[in-house]
Amino acid sequence: MTEGQGFQALVRTPPRGVLGRLGAAVRTLIWIFEHRSFSLRTDLRVPLDDWGRIGEVVRLKSASSNGVQERILILDFGSQYTQVIARRVREAHVYSEIVPHTISVGEVLSLRPQGIILSGGPASVYSPKAPKMDRGIFHLGIPILGICYGMQLLVKEFGGEVARGTRREYGRGTLHRRRACALLASLPKNLEIWNSHGDRVTRLPKGFESVATTENSPYAVVRRENIYGLQFHPEVSHTPRGKEILANFLHKICGCEGTWTMGSFVRRTIQEIRDQVGPHRVILGLSGGVDSSVAAALLAKAIGRQLYCIFVDNGLLRKGEAESVRRIFGRHMNIHLTVVDARNQFLRRLKGVADPERKRKIIGYEFIKVFEKAAHRVGKGARFLGQGTLYPDVIESVPIAGNPAALIKSHHNVGGLPKRMKLELVEPLRQLFKDEVREVGKVLGLPKEMVWRQPFPGPGLAVRCLGAIDEKKLSILREADAIVVEEMKKADWYYRIWQSFAVLLPCRSVGVMGDERTYDNAIAIRAVESKDGMTADWVRLPGDLLGRISNRICNEVKGINRVVLDISSKPPATIEWE
Ligand code: XMP
Repeated sequence: MTEGQGFQALVRTPPRGVLGRLGAAVRTLIWIFEHRSFSLRTDLRVPLDDWGRIGEVVRLKSASSNGVQERILILDFGSQYTQVIARRVREAHVYSEIVPHTISVGEVLSLRPQGIILSGGPASVYSPKAPKMDRGIFHLGIPILGICYGMQLLVKEFGGEVARGTRREYGRGTLHRRRACALLASLPKNLEIWNSHGDRVTRLPKGFESVATTENSPYAVVRRENIYGLQFHPEVSHTPRGKEILANFLHKICGCEGTWTMGSFVRRTIQEIRDQVGPHRVILGLSGGVDSSVAAALLAKAIGRQLYCIFVDNGLLRKGEAESVRRIFGRHMNIHLTVVDARNQFLRRLKGVADPERKRKIIGYEFIKVFEKAAHRVGKGARFLGQGTLYPDVIESVPIAGNPAALIKSHHNVGGLPKRMKLELVEPLRQLFKDEVREVGKVLGLPKEMVWRQPFPGPGLAVRCLGAIDEKKLSILREADAIVVEEMKKADWYYRIWQSFAVLLPCRSVGVMGDERTYDNAIAIRAVESKDGMTADWVRLPGDLLGRISNRICNEVKGINRVVLDISSKPPATIEWE
């Protein structure tokens, strides 16, 4: 049972009788008074059921805070910006956690947040299917910031009015401050902001005041004691001073000091890994990518030679990749590292297979087979499997109609491994976003080319060598790809974009070299910008850089006489060609 599941089970324990509930409520009160971040509100009206639940949770699991002292909870109402809010909070050095809007008041209390942010969302508060939240949360005395839908929800909860918008107000606006307010402290009287909302507040509830207005709304920033609402989106880059608004909420209203740094994360996580793993062995599959590399470096720092890394050379890697993993992890960091040479096995299985999905399936299946075998050999008696799982993989997505994030699916390379191998998981990066993982890598002293390397798909060059593959085609692609990487680095473009690579096309065309006619393959250059790989646009690389890449590939890679540029965005194309 994971901690999360254990926690759920505890929370759902039904209170036993009225006396039990009262006892729980008393314990809760004592706990709340002891805890400095809560002040009881005079209008506190939490239903008895909630007190019972709070009591149960507080008694049984009040220390589920993972050693993180400051925490902001973000209740997710399905906004496409929820993760952006979480990142902005962390950029202000406060740990943030995204939780479903269905979280109970008891669960909130057990997590001991300094503040709560209610995200935006695509729904209308009046729709019968509108996502709601446990009303008790509004009355805990914990500072709350409602953004857009979150604001409308809290206004409605306290008795105000929200009107259905006939059309969405979308785009830039100017905010005018009308009253002094901690949320807007140190900011100019007029601010550029970004709107994206359908409904809007038309009457404030009793006790609330409007702090700032826009051309279209007298209620752009509202507050009552430590509950605030923003009609616009402070988290997006189109609200240029939005970070400062959020920082005001965190530091001035919630009282956070800002202790979340990657240095403190590393120190704390090392201790947590040691506590979890004890004297046992951990196996970890290194892929050469950022996540597994940083996870390995962190585990190595915590448990040293108890860590056993396995790197599978499937023959589909980029030039020099296996060697660089050996150099960094084996020699430089002195980690137990087993490099399994499975090149022939993969190539044999892939022989004659042209269908992209079948290629992927075969590679995934063979990987599990090879990894499992190697793990039995090198990690005898191992109890744990280390994985570089990141925070976006563990956030429960909120499937609210209209939220594009709900449609996003991620690629899983080693799905199924832990279940089959009956190992417990150690996932030291579970709390982190990708940019934080890179920061951890830097703190741990990993080289720049590892920390900032571009994403590389699990099936490797197989999905960039179109159709059936063999060693000859792979080696042509490997050489061409190495030229792309080298030139992109030299021109200072490699680290600025999401991905840049070569693709070997399965067609031949006529060319001329010296006096001879050639009939060779073509290479396509793919260079894309993206935030998360879900959408992408092709990069307008300078013509002279493209010219150099093309010249070198045609001159240096035997078998290629033509280079073309892929100028499609995603959608409709994908980033990889297969
Ligand atoms: P597509 O081709 O779907 O790729 O637009 C989106 C992003 O995901 C990467 N990718 C993968 N990553 N295993 C991975 O770990 C895979 O099987 C896989 N397929 C694609 C791709 O490189 C791009 O960054």
